[in-house]
Amino acid sequence: MKYVIGVDLGTSAVKILLVDQQGNVAHEVSKSYPLIQEKTGYSEQEPEVWVDQTAAGLSDLLQETGISPEEVEGISFSGQMHGLVLLDEKNRVLRPAILWNDTRTTEQCKSIYRQVGEEKLLSLTKNPALEGFTLPKLLWVKQNEPDIYQRAHKFVLPKDYLRYKMTGELHMEYSDAAGTLLLNISEKQWSPEICEAVGIDVDLCPPLVESHAEIGTITEDFAERTGMHAATRVFAGGADNACGAIGSGILEDGKTLCSIGTSGVVLSYEQGPEKDFKGKVHYFNHGAENAYYTMGVTLSAGYSLSWFKEVFASDEDFDDLLADVGSVPVGANGLLFTPYLTGERTPHADAAIRGSFIGMGSSHQRSDFVRAVMEGITFSLNESIDIFRQSGKQIDTIVSIGGGAKNEVWLQMQADIFDAKIVKLSSEQGPGMGAAMLAAYGCGWFDSLADCADHFLKEAASYEPNQENVQQYRELFLLYKSIYKHTADINHELMRYRK
Ligand code: XUL
Repeated sequence: MKYVIGVDLGTSAVKILLVDQQGNVAHEVSKSYPLIQEKTGYSEQEPEVWVDQTAAGLSDLLQETGISPEEVEGISFSGQMHGLVLLDEKNRVLRPAILWNDTRTTEQCKSIYRQVGEEKLLSLTKNPALEGFTLPKLLWVKQNEPDIYQRAHKFVLPKDYLRYKMTGELHMEYSDAAGTLLLNISEKQWSPEICEAVGIDVDLCPPLVESHAEIGTITEDFAERTGMHAATRVFAGGADNACGAIGSGILEDGKTLCSIGTSGVVLSYEQGPEKDFKGKVHYFNHGAENAYYTMGVTLSAGYSLSWFKEVFASDEDFDDLLADVGSVPVGANGLLFTPYLTGERTPHADAAIRGSFIGMGSSHQRSDFVRAVMEGITFSLNESIDIFRQSGKQIDTIVSIGGGAKNEVWLQMQADIFDAKIVKLSSEQGPGMGAAMLAAYGCGWFDSLADCADHFLKEAASYEPNQENVQQYRELFLLYKSIYKHTADINHELMRYRK
């Protein structure tokens, strides 16, 4: 048999998928790692832990399946986006990685606007300066840790470092480079203009490649550590959202994805870079050559639910926590939740906003809270769908992946809140599957990613909107939307009490 491996380097864990030539997931291994959150707004991880956990996962995968390592023809990656990994001249890690959900860089975002100009930045990168992106983090290190910055030779993103440790070759690919705020996304080149305006040496930026580019093979050292075959071909991979799109077949105009992982996104395919959303949604290069996608981001989507579980039901599993949520009516008996646990991106780019439960009463049970959390996450994603619809996009069918696709009640809730047909695929592992598809395409199994998607992806079920629920959710959505403006000032004042 021939296989490819998709490695999805996420925020809470690395998930490794072994995929056969028919697109079946033959085996799956997951290894988790912690977030380091020393202060409010800080979020870091140790790059070496990603490498150790991936190596352990690959070795488990080979042992548990008993396949021969030669049968794995190719491997590729999906990676959490934007995280800054700083390397010295010998490519040694200089400090813990500063992640996409770290929001310490509000000042740096303001200085980027001052130095580059808002219009100019938008015209070159198609994106606004947001705390989560990589350039503000680079400037934060430059200002706050000058000794470390002085020793920096290159910066890369999380999966690039993992791939470097696997192959000895250092690159970045376009879909992830798009999230740095240093790429001219139309020309697919680092922007010397931005580098010069903010005082960053363009040599810090690594060489750029396509997502399906073959980077090399596995080093003897990594092969020995994992049991992988040294001749296995390694392909660049893509940003997790680009890979989620590939792994869900979002490869032509008119296709929309809803992905609920730690963050949640609503993402739509774009043929080219020329549309103008005025920075209201992110505009990034796709992992499919010369294509693009636009997307709105809810920073704490699945994270809101796992936070709730951790704080209020730490000794239960998710199935128990969600067991009664289907019997709670639409609107959670008058309880609303905003998922701003770590600030928000779309439609409110606000690092200081925090979440709320509105309408708590003495009759509320835990299941009401759980339903309110799920509804709040979905309302937040619906704000992105609203932006797309207002721009003239027709959104009537949405592929749902990630945590939101694992639960029937949540799938129906998405259909009712989004007022669209929701499609669940036979594998809801979008990013890992997308990474495996990049390897399959790179290995020459298929002529294109779309051809691979035709062979690999199968619809498992679909959920039609229930018009009565749609009506109720429309009213509730208006109330949900008003919470931001009523709570923003209070939250900004509360900032000084956060540790
Ligand atoms: C996208 C973003 C998140 C991360 C999650 O801009 O910051 O979706 O990619 O890994």
